[in-house]
Amino acid sequence: MSEDTAALHALAQRYYLPVYRPRRIVLDHGRGSRLWDIEGREYVDFGAGIAVNALGHAHPALVAAINEQAGKLWHTSNVFVSGPPLRLARALSEAAPFDAQVFFCNSGAEANEAAIKLARQWATSQGREPAQRVILSFRGSFHGRTLAAVTATAQPKYHEGFEPLPPGFRYCDFNDLDAAAQAMAGGDVCAVLVEPMQGEGGVTPATAGFLEGLRELCDRHRALLVFDEIQCGMGRTGRLFACEDAGVVPDVVTLAKALGSGFPIGAMLVGPTAHDALRFGQHGTTFGGNPLACAVAGAALRELSAPALLDNVSRQSTALREGLAALDTEFGLFDEVRGRGLMLGAQLRPEHAGQAGAILDLCIDHGLLLLQAGPDVLRFVPALNITDADISEGLRRLREALVGFLGARRD
Ligand SMILES: Cc1ncc(COP(=O)(O)O)c(C=O)c1O
Repeated sequence: MSEDTAALHALAQRYYLPVYRPRRIVLDHGRGSRLWDIEGREYVDFGAGIAVNALGHAHPALVAAINEQAGKLWHTSNVFVSGPPLRLARALSEAAPFDAQVFFCNSGAEANEAAIKLARQWATSQGREPAQRVILSFRGSFHGRTLAAVTATAQPKYHEGFEPLPPGFRYCDFNDLDAAAQAMAGGDVCAVLVEPMQGEGGVTPATAGFLEGLRELCDRHRALLVFDEIQCGMGRTGRLFACEDAGVVPDVVTLAKALGSGFPIGAMLVGPTAHDALRFGQHGTTFGGNPLACAVAGAALRELSAPALLDNVSRQSTALREGLAALDTEFGLFDEVRGRGLMLGAQLRPEHAGQAGAILDLCIDHGLLLLQAGPDVLRFVPALNITDADISEGLRRLREALVGFLGARRD
């Protein structure tokens, strides 16, 4: 197989289902927040594999954990228990803001799928009829691509052509507590599924009081409050759990992405209200709780819980915000920079609407990997252990890309 970039992209076109449109480089290896492509070009990584590589690339503790476990035991299935998933479940439960029982799976969508099923069984166990088991979610959300998770994802573009969608889902506007109160007034909602900070939908934090208000509504109407912390959790906001920022204790938290910091794993953490909701045989997965994945996630959790790491998130968040503010002063490109910790979004001004993808392409030319959240928002989700030097070098490269962008627009 030829290792030439163009040849590999031709192979991808030939052999992959065309559901992705990969960037035109081929990455080869990484260390910390730097990556190299197969032609030897180096990049600063502000995207972290879509908010996954929270400890950067080739972190020594993760490499050691996977190597050690790889020589011992990879997979047992849930017919048996083993050390790494048990230790991880205990560590997560002890770190969580409630007494959690844990279900392991392999991705974010699966974690949300599990939460939807759990909520339905919880309502069933209270004698509620199918029509009383509605899941409420919010416009702009993203919860994954399996059929129930995508139905909970309240963005029509992810639904089109997949109808009939499963029934029993309802949507209202994010950060509109009155709308949520109205949507729950009939008493038929069994769970509210919400991202404390929306990611894919544009990097939009919950406004003050919104999550507390949802907690009250859930208590009043006997509904579970489910926080999807798949993107904003595991330290990204500067706290291990995003719900800690709001001081709200949910009934269920879903995790994935940074949980394995690059190794695929998802988890649903369930609080006491719903410990008994799912009984033997009602849910499961062959690979969930795989010892290899859990050994890596256990090592990642130890690193991500370290106070110095969480301090770094706040410090680099300030540096990134200041850098983006300086770029905005120079170029006048952004309507606002929003978000928390190392999950920031720069909203492009209306005259640059739809141009996020073009800016990302230019960033690649200048040695920076960046993400978008929709066509109008630049999304910054670097590794949580990113260094001062990598933040400032990434900002320098972003500036070069923006000079090119504005120059091309003027021509
Ligand atoms: C908030 C949120 N929930 C769920 C998911 C789905 O996770 P996965 O792609 O691992 O299925 C994502 C993925 O981007 C996400 O950001």
